[in-house]
Amino acid sequence: MATQERRPRLDPATARQVIDPSSYAEWDGLLDTFDRLRAETPVAWVEPEDGGVHPPFWLVTRYDDVMRMSKDNATFLNNPHTVVFSLTEGIEFAKAFSGGSEHMVASLVTFDAPIHMKYRKLTQEWFMPKNLRTVEDEIRAIAHAAVDRLLAGGGEADFVKTVAAPYPLHVVMQILGVPEEDEPRMLMLTQQMFGGSDEDLNQSGMKDLPPEAITQLVAGAVKDFEAYFAKLTAERRASPTADVASTIANAVIDGEPLNDRDMMGYYIILAAAGHDTTSASTAGAMLALARDPEQWARVRADRSLLPGIVEEAIRWTTPVQHFMRTAAEDTEVGGQPIAKGDWLMMNYVAANHDPAHFENPRRFDAARSPNRHLAFGAGAHQCLGLHLARLEMRILFETLLDRIETVELAGEPARSRSTFVGGLKTLPLRFTPA
Ligand code: HEM
Repeated sequence: MATQERRPRLDPATARQVIDPSSYAEWDGLLDTFDRLRAETPVAWVEPEDGGVHPPFWLVTRYDDVMRMSKDNATFLNNPHTVVFSLTEGIEFAKAFSGGSEHMVASLVTFDAPIHMKYRKLTQEWFMPKNLRTVEDEIRAIAHAAVDRLLAGGGEADFVKTVAAPYPLHVVMQILGVPEEDEPRMLMLTQQMFGGSDEDLNQSGMKDLPPEAITQLVAGAVKDFEAYFAKLTAERRASPTADVASTIANAVIDGEPLNDRDMMGYYIILAAAGHDTTSASTAGAMLALARDPEQWARVRADRSLLPGIVEEAIRWTTPVQHFMRTAAEDTEVGGQPIAKGDWLMMNYVAANHDPAHFENPRRFDAARSPNRHLAFGAGAHQCLGLHLARLEMRILFETLLDRIETVELAGEPARSRSTFVGGLKTLPLRFTPA
């Protein structure tokens, strides 16, 4: 009870805003709220007044606190509570589906030490810059195909639909060894798993469905993934190639091959983590450049400016908007006592807009230095695909800058409604080919 009394509880309206996917489509209002919270209640108890539809949690908004939590993987665990903010009903369903775990599938993000590192090591080398050089040409070919599609639009196109969404999907599917004709199915499956709250992502068939139906659909998606990748595993065991699927299919931990559930979890996390995220930062980079024709011209002339643009786009968009942790013991965050078992949201959007670390944080500043943002997280779980994401963006923008002379906005961009992975869902552009 003493701990309960010391919990600075968010007022109901702010609590609703923080958990409502629509707020994430109205970015500026949300950033205003995070500014207020960072200053007034940087570690705030969110207990929505909705009869338990959403479970309560701590909202952490300051950069320093999120960084400390990310790096202290012994105190702030990825278990037992789920690492993505979910409805209470969804959590109950996941438990029933998985046989007790709040995580629908077992994957890198659902493991803690010591097993986490054993799993991570299996593919870590594959995602390092040295190995990624072997797939650069393949990625460049995919970038050219994406720009061909854009140019085919005759000078106007929605950048998200023609380039930002399909390009990273195609790259990650190539890496996993999924043939092109199966990509739409994979996209549908990942949207069913992660895009459920956006009414416009209706390809996933989730529009207007009640929460329990959405949860059922997600469970179906997991099963479909499993069936799909079981076949791929069998193929890669019979004849291994250099792709990630082969690495996973033939992996051994403590002398044993991975069991089916863990192997599927590996494929699923790569397939799901690798595209919407990079799509959002790619679209954000293009938005910033389309709004600033001089910057487009400058970077066309001087490609050394590109890495700064890529990094700032990743901070400025922060596609993964949060991850959750569970306190392993009674502890504190930013001086606020936290009880063992409490659930905490590390809000990367808020952290990456903390003025204590980023001057004028809402400004897109390609020359920002240092730019030690938290968009990829930090610590043991820091994004496995961060070099790949940067490489994909660099290659795509090199291709775009080569082939497009001028670019400008041709309409209002719109953001998706999602508390987890979010970003632009439309970006109408007008451009002239080079
Ligand atoms: C984990 C962001 C692209 C694979 C993460 C985490 C974040 C993140 C915030 C959690 C970090 C933490 O808990 O400390 C992003 C962003 C991306 C991106 C913003 C694009 C701009 C990718 C790509 C892949 C990928 C392209 C691979 C295909 C993963 C995996 C994990 C992860 C496997 C789990 C790592 C672990 O738990 O050990 N990512 N990601 N991500 N990401 Fe990414």
